[in-house]
Formats: sequence, structure tokens, C-alpha cells
Amino acid sequence: MCGIVGYIGDRNAQEILTEGLKKLEYRGYDSAGVAVFTKDGLQVKKAKGRLAVLESELEKKPLEGTAGIGHTRWATHGKPSDVNSHPHTDNSMKFSVVHNGIIENYLALKEELIAEGRVFVSETDTEVIAHLVASLYKGDIVAAVRDAVKRMTGAFALGVLTEYEPDKLVAVRYASPLIIGVGENENFIGSDIPAILEHTRNVYILNDGEMAVLTRDAVELMTLEGNFISREIFHVDWDIITAEKAGFDHFMLKEIHEQPKAYRDTMGSRLSADGRSVVLNELNMSKEDIQAISRIHIVACGTAYHAGLIGKNVIEKLARIPVETDVASEYRYRTPIITKDTLVIVVSQSGETADTLAALREAKRCGARVLAITNVVGSSAAREADDVITTWAGPEIAVASTKAYTSQLIAFYLLGLYLAQTLGTVSADEIAETIAGLRKLPEQVEAILKDSSAIESYAKQIAEHEDLFFIGRGLDYAVALEGSLKLKEISYIHSEAYAAGELKHGTLALIEEGIPVIALAIQSDLFEKTVSNIKEVKARGANVFGIAAEGEEELAKSVDQVFYVPKTLDLLSPALSVVPLQLLSYYASLALGHDVDKPRNLAKSVTVE
Ligand code: F6R
Repeated sequence: MCGIVGYIGDRNAQEILTEGLKKLEYRGYDSAGVAVFTKDGLQVKKAKGRLAVLESELEKKPLEGTAGIGHTRWATHGKPSDVNSHPHTDNSMKFSVVHNGIIENYLALKEELIAEGRVFVSETDTEVIAHLVASLYKGDIVAAVRDAVKRMTGAFALGVLTEYEPDKLVAVRYASPLIIGVGENENFIGSDIPAILEHTRNVYILNDGEMAVLTRDAVELMTLEGNFISREIFHVDWDIITAEKAGFDHFMLKEIHEQPKAYRDTMGSRLSADGRSVVLNELNMSKEDIQAISRIHIVACGTAYHAGLIGKNVIEKLARIPVETDVASEYRYRTPIITKDTLVIVVSQSGETADTLAALREAKRCGARVLAITNVVGSSAAREADDVITTWAGPEIAVASTKAYTSQLIAFYLLGLYLAQTLGTVSADEIAETIAGLRKLPEQVEAILKDSSAIESYAKQIAEHEDLFFIGRGLDYAVALEGSLKLKEISYIHSEAYAAGELKHGTLALIEEGIPVIALAIQSDLFEKTVSNIKEVKARGANVFGIAAEGEEELAKSVDQVFYVPKTLDLLSPALSVVPLQLLSYYASLALGHDVDKPRNLAKSVTVE
């Protein structure tokens, strides 16, 4: 995890670095720091806690200079503390490093460097890099960084400065994201685009194993072997406003409200004008390739995994191909049966999640074709997969994923329909009916968002409880899992999601007077069965909040309160029914006074295993 930023130009570096770090705080926020070339040499200021703590330190004693590096941390090696914060320096204080990733062989390197007489002050793996670069420096910082990197194993994006060559900022990318921003008489590095977007829209996206040397007026790209690379500039055409709150109190609420747009953008031109077919020109798969797929593995983490559970249902129903959905950190180590006719679909908002990337690489090693569903163009997942479906949700800043999840659902609907129309597993009319349903979803989400007062008041009720349950059957169960994760993540209320028919096999013992149970009863063919399960918990004293499709007025008789979502096809219903659950967690977190966008112990992009 962690976010890094760097600047070299004519302006006040401290300001540009701290502004950039604000945009990266979602990558980690347990401490922050900057290093700036000042008239007194390379000066470092760092502090445990949110960026605001560092900012107030810098206000008291600013670092004056026009080049520097900055870091926002999510601890891996060593607890959050001032001394473990980045940038790290060598003993001479002439070299300074910011790092995102993990140096796996840091202990061996540390021993060697201690034997040379170097003294370590922190518990981090990163400090090794500063000492190693200093130890290898023979008058050329680019060569020293290159030599140091050759000695390191693991994952790292780096920004390196030395007082000996104050006109250079050296950057390296190896299995952790890094981009270069190209300005006029100024250049930038950043863990991602929002960090520098305020200053330039022209970026180079580094690949793994590449480095860059930035001066005020030039950027040189090269491989770690020192071969120069020429690359076209990538012009970013999305707006910085999309990465800011736009009048909402929190990014999460803003992102929940952005879902209708995210649905429309993700469907975009992928639905034919006559509404009878799906166009996925981005896939490089021929009809023969699709016919050759004998099984599909969907692999992802957390919320993206929950989208994969829906994806399994969608693909199996529409394309009749057997699908397994697996948690990435388990998949990789359980020696899954992957053959040439397996399509592995990795789902990742960031496209940088280490567990998911490891699964992707394992799948490729076994000869599978890999399709990535990701929200970040140019991310590692997008670059390493054979095929990519981009979800056009725009930057997601809140740690709790909302619009990225629902856009992943849209991507699965498109993919399921595309496979079905290619394989002829579903009639043309059924495809047209599903497309018509998809097209209605954005306005149906708008209808849910128009009045969330019932959800808000129910959130206040559940905020007084320590435990609660979500139940549902079929697709409703998959949505219940996501509702429960969202609630735990940001409200810290303990909840469990159960397949409604499974309660009686053990969990029913936990149901007691007054315990809240949120019951999803949307799947029409399972409605009666779910109502029976609702009656089981009601009989044991549960207070049930039902979620049903408009028209199912009967449910009101079996529950304490009910919230209706607009009617759609059962298959598409998760794209609607998850919305009240997102709002419920948001308002519960708010009622409890938590930091909605930055829940404790979590970070947005988990780039460590
Ligand atoms: C929960 C959440 C996480 C992510 C997970 C995977 O709200 O956001 O569970 O879904 O860490 O992240 P990506 O999708 O970036 O691979």
C-alpha cells in the first residue's frame, strides 16, 4: 500500500507534494512525510497520523525548495510512527527515498549494510533502500539506483533524491504502480493520476521493470538495464472534479450517487442501437475461442469477489458455462485445475490488488486466458490480462467500494449476454429483454436515491446494536454478503450474511428478542421460501427489515418494516437491491460518528499479499 508523489520544477515543492498526498490518502493514511531540497540541503519532515498532522508541522516550519518527494503510508513493516514514516534517508542524510511495496529480502540486505557500518533507525524494509543506494553511489545516482534495484526482490515503486545531484529525481516501477506527469519546466511522479492531475494531463504510465529520470525540463524513460525507451504521452481526459467531493459530505455518498452515471458509462456504446445485442469490441476472442471455453474461474478480493459471485450466476444462467468464483488469496495456493480451455476472469477496481495479480499470474503460468474487469486504465491487471473490460465508474476514492462494485455487475451482465449471443444459449428475444432491463437500471437507481429517509432512520436504529444478520436466497444471498461487508467495514457493527435456508442448520440459535435481521426477498421464484425463513426468525423475536421488489406488498405482513426497490428482472436485481444496503452502512457509520471514507485499519488499494 502507500502513496508516493514527487516534484521537480520552479514552484514551491512542499505545497505541490502535500496537495498530491491529499489525493493519495485513500492508499494509506497512518503517517506521512516529505523531503525537499532546501538551501540547507535535503530536509525531511514526517509525522505519524493523518496528513493534517504533517501539514501543521510544515506550517510551523516550512521546507523552502522546488524539488522533493512525499509519501502517505499504510504500515506493513513496522508500526505507524514518526520514525517508520517515509521518506527514509541514509546516515549521511544525503539520500532520500519514498517507497510503495515490500522489499522481501530486506533482512539479508540489512545485515550486509550493518556489517558495512551503516546504522538503521527504523523497523521498515524501505530504509534498506536508502542505505543501499548510498552504499552503491559512485557519482551517478541513476546507476546507483539501478544497481540497488538489481539487489532487491519484492514489489516497489520508488522516488529517490540525492543532495549530490539536486537537479534529478529518479523513479522506479516494479510491481507497484507509478506514473510520471509531464509539465512545462516541471515534472511529477505519483502513485496514480489524481495526485498530479491538478498540474498536468500529460502522463507516462511506467511498466514493471522501468525507471525514469526527471529533471525540470525533461523526462527520460529507461529499462532497469539502462536501455532508453520512447513512449507516447497518455492524455488524461477526465476531470479533477470527478476526483473531488462535488458538494457531498463524503466521497462514499457522492460515489453512491454517481452509480446511475457509472451504469450508463459502462454500458455506453456496448449495447447496439437496436437494443438486441451486446458489442464488446475490446475482447480479442473469436467465436472459436469462446466455443473452446470449458470452464470459467472468477477470482477477486472483498467486494470485487462479491461481484464475482453475481457474475457466476449471470454467466451460468446465460451462457451455460460452469463457473467457480474464488477469493484470490485462496485460489492461488489451492492448486486450482486450470487448463488451456479455462477462462480466468480477475475482477479488481484498482487493478493493483496484490492477491488478485498473483492469481492472474498463476492463471497465465498455467496457460489460461485471462480477462480483467477493472476500473483503472493502464493498471497492472489491465496490462497483464489478455482481454480487458473497463468499468467506467471513474476514480473511486472512498475506501468502501460502491460504484465500482455495481459497475462490475454491469460488466458481468454485458459479458454474460455477449457469451450467450455468441454461443446461442439464449433466445434473441431474451437477450433483447435483458438489454431493455439493463437500460432502465440507471433511472431505477435514481428513483431509489431520490428518497433515502427510510433507510437513514433505520440506520439510526441499527446503530444501537452490536450484532445483526442479513439473509437472502440465490442472488439475494450474494447481495446480502456485500451488504454485510459494507456495514462491518465502515460502521464496525458486527454482522453476518446467511443463505436464508441455512439458518436453521445452526445460526438460528443466535436469533433472540430484538435482534435486527435484514431480509432480502427479491428473487421471485424464491419469494415464498424466503418468507418462510423470515417467519422462522420472527418467531424467535427478530426485528425484520425486509427489502422487496415493488408490487410484493404481501411482504409487509411478515416483517416489521419494508423497503421497496423498483421491479426489474431477477437476474438484474442486485444492481438495485445493493443500493439501499450501501446507504444503510453509510448512514449507520455517520450515526456512530466514524470516518466514513477512511475506516480504521483499511486502505483503498491493497498492494501487499
Ligand atoms: C470493500 C473493498 C474491498 C475491495 C478489495 C479488492 O469495500 O473495497 O473489499 O473490493 O480490496 O480491491 P480491488 O477491487 O481494487 O482489487
